[in-house]
Amino acid sequence: MSERAVLVTGASRGIGAAVAAAFAAAGDRVALHYRGSTELAEKVRAALPGDGHLTVQGDLADPTAVASIIETVVKEFGRIDVLVNNAGIYVEHRIEDVSYDEWQESWQRTLAVNLLGPANLAWCAVRHMPRGGRIVNVSSRGAFRGEPRQPAYGASKAGLNSLGQSLARALGPRGIAVSTVAPGYVETDMAADVLAGPQGDTIRAQSPLGRVATPADVAAAVLYLASAQAELASGTIIDLNGASHLR
Ligand SMILES: NC(=O)c1ccc[n+]([C@@H]2O[C@H](COP(=O)([O-])OP(=O)(O)OC[C@H]3O[C@@H](n4cnc5c(N)ncnc54)[C@H](OP(=O)(O)O)[C@@H]3O)[C@@H](O)[C@H]2O)c1
Repeated sequence: MSERAVLVTGASRGIGAAVAAAFAAAGDRVALHYRGSTELAEKVRAALPGDGHLTVQGDLADPTAVASIIETVVKEFGRIDVLVNNAGIYVEHRIEDVSYDEWQESWQRTLAVNLLGPANLAWCAVRHMPRGGRIVNVSSRGAFRGEPRQPAYGASKAGLNSLGQSLARALGPRGIAVSTVAPGYVETDMAADVLAGPQGDTIRAQSPLGRVATPADVAAAVLYLASAQAELASGTIIDLNGASHLR
């Protein structure tokens, strides 16, 4: 396929920045979405190969902001060939530790960003997505293994898996494929403290390969799922956890 118009959410750092770099290296135009890290996002954009990339700001918990993210990208690119729902939050709220109010807040915020955000982005984006379009969702091993300290996160990612499978069936007749990657721990800001702390070696040893994923590992899988060759992978969920959790 010639140059594609790609929107990557949460592209100011971590996995999203690596995904944006992988698409740009393949010759695509990338819209890098972020929430608050304007400088970081600009830095990532400036380092991308190729021309015409842009940054776009917005809180995915806000449906109005989601609509305006898509409007901005469509105004600039004319269409959206690929949507990568990558942005996410990971908030600790152990059931035995937090107050009822904190429990409410954690569930509402996590589901709003990790599940409703991607659902709303998909609704807005498919109206500008031609045949051959792709939606790739970044889920997590936690959807399958459970998240005892972040239960809303696990539930949000299980919901995201289901959203992807439902949309794969809904959008197939339009030639749009929808798929998911489910990484275990990845070396990013989100996991930095845990991986650098006393648990780090135990976590790396969960995989027989003795390591966790890099953002580039995840980006390579996303690039494949967004390719023309991956049409028949629609509906799939690719595990990227180094055999640390088999299902
Ligand atoms: N790291 C891991 O171990 C791991 C494992 C499995 C799955 N994942 C998933 O992979 C994805 C990316 O993770 P990461 O580790 O790269 O995360 P990260 O380094 O924490 O970066 C998160 C990104 O999401 C954006 N973001 C956060 N809250 C947002 C909101 N309310 N609205 C819009 N954007 C928001 C951030 O923007 P700002 O920089 O502007 O705040 C940032 O670009 C997430 O969905 C995560 O759940 C990560």
